[in-house]
Order: sequence, then structure tokens, then C-alpha cells
Amino acid sequence: MFKKNKKNKKEIYHLITDKDINFSFAEAFRVFAVNLRFTFAQKFSRKVIITGFNENMGKTMISTNLAIAMAQSGFRVLLIDCDLRKPCVHKLFKDENTIGLTHILCDDVKVDDAIKKSQVDNLWYLTAGVKSPNPIKLLLSPEMSELLNNLGREYDWIILDTPPVGVVSDALILSNNCDGVILAAEEGVSDYRQIAKAIEEIKYVNGNLLGVVLNRAKNNRRRYYYQYSYGQDK
Ligand SMILES: Nc1ncnc2c1ncn2[C@@H]1O[C@H](COP(=O)(O)OP(=O)(O)OP(=O)(O)O)[C@@H](O)[C@H]1O
Ligand SMILES: [Mg+2]
Repeated sequence: MFKKNKKNKKEIYHLITDKDINFSFAEAFRVFAVNLRFTFAQKFSRKVIITGFNENMGKTMISTNLAIAMAQSGFRVLLIDCDLRKPCVHKLFKDENTIGLTHILCDDVKVDDAIKKSQVDNLWYLTAGVKSPNPIKLLLSPEMSELLNNLGREYDWIILDTPPVGVVSDALILSNNCDGVILAAEEGVSDYRQIAKAIEEIKYVNGNLLGVVLNRAKNNRRRYYYQYSYGQDK
């Protein structure tokens, strides 16, 4: 369906709000959002991390489309770019990464001045902000815990886009301040050992693994180009 553009792969993102988006692609995210919603039926505010073992697996694309699908269901949603090493969320909203999370954590700006309303109803986003020499220190800081606690009072869902767990530990660090972790995997690229290792690491830090999303599924017999397995191996 969507072919990779090798020359400029990082710049092309498909959003479920695009006019010409494939129906099955958009529908898969709507189903994903419904399932995720029922996983936390009893809770008011939910913070969910999207990560994966490797780079370039579609973590940011999945985070953003999931956030849009949740917002379209009527929830107040905040998408946070917690990838302080390779910030990308701003690109999906055709925005700049001038003020963001790192500025809030360093007390350079107020939270309300950094969070932006997207063109999608009920959806706000917080870009990563200026690159930090020590992202782990920032994500581990009491300021980050306090920020997530406070934001949890304002939004029904907070989706955190993070770097790959197979490369850096940022997502693992955040998992203690969040309600669950979703792993992205890529058909034909992610192997069993990588997924098992990522699951082991999430469990080691007492993270709540919610499920694995299979991106770029190639099997035509499947109903969706984009697949997920869900609620497994908690
Ligand atoms: N299912 C898909 N269909 C089409 N294009 C996709 C799909 N998944 C990801 N892509 C494209 O692949 C590229 C990489 O995706 P993305 O930036 O979301 O990956 P990532 O895992 O967040 O990468 P990084 O590790 O660098 O943060 C983007 O251009 C994105 O649009
Ligand atoms: Mg990314």
C-alpha cells in the first residue's frame, strides 16, 4: 500500500486524518484505540508509552495516529514527544520544535505555553524541545514525574512517543511514571529475540506491557495492512 521512500523516508508520514488515507489503515487505528480504551475501563487518566526495539519501526507514526484516533473518540488527548534524541512529532503536525518538553523541565517556559492545540479536535501535542546532552537525567527528574502527574489531571489520555528500547533506556525510565507500554514491531525486520529482549527489559523495570503492535504487516491474507496483537503477556 504505502511504499517506503528510500531517499527521504523520514519525511513521509501517513496520518489517519489525511484525505486520501487507506480505509483499512485508518480503521486499524480506530480498533486499536477502542481496544486500548477498554483495557483501562476503570481509570480516569491513562499514560501510555509507545516504543519498539529498533529505530525506524514506525513508533512516531503509531503514537500520532493512535493519539488522533483517541481524540476522534471524544477524549482529551495529549501526545508528548519524549524522544529527546531524535525529536519528530513536530514534523507530523508540520510544526517547528522550538519550545517543548525540555524547556518545561528546565523551567524555561510554562507548561501552557509549550503545549499546542492540533487541528484535530481534542488533540494537543508537546514537542520535545531543544536537544539535551543528558536526556536520561531529564526523564528521570522529579520535574518529569510531577509534570506527568499534573498533566494526568487535564487529559484523558497521554501518549508518549519514545526512542527504541534496544538502543537507549529512555522508554524504560518513563515506564514507572506511566500506566502501560506498547511495543512496536515490524514484520520481516523484528525478530523473536529482539521482541523477547524488549519484553524482558520492560518487565525488569516493572513496566506494564500492554501488547505488541505489528507494523508494516506484509501478509495479504490479513485484514489490515497494519496489525496489532493486544492484551497479551501482561
Ligand atoms: N505502516 C507504515 N506505512 C507506511 N509508512 C510507514 C509505516 N510505518 C512507518 N512508516 C514510515 O517510516 C518512517 C519511519 O517512521 P517513524 O519515524 O514513525 O519511525 P520511528 O520508529 O519513530 O523512528 P525513530 O526510531 O527514528 O524514532 C516514516 O517516514 C513513516 O511514515
Ligand atoms: Mg520516532
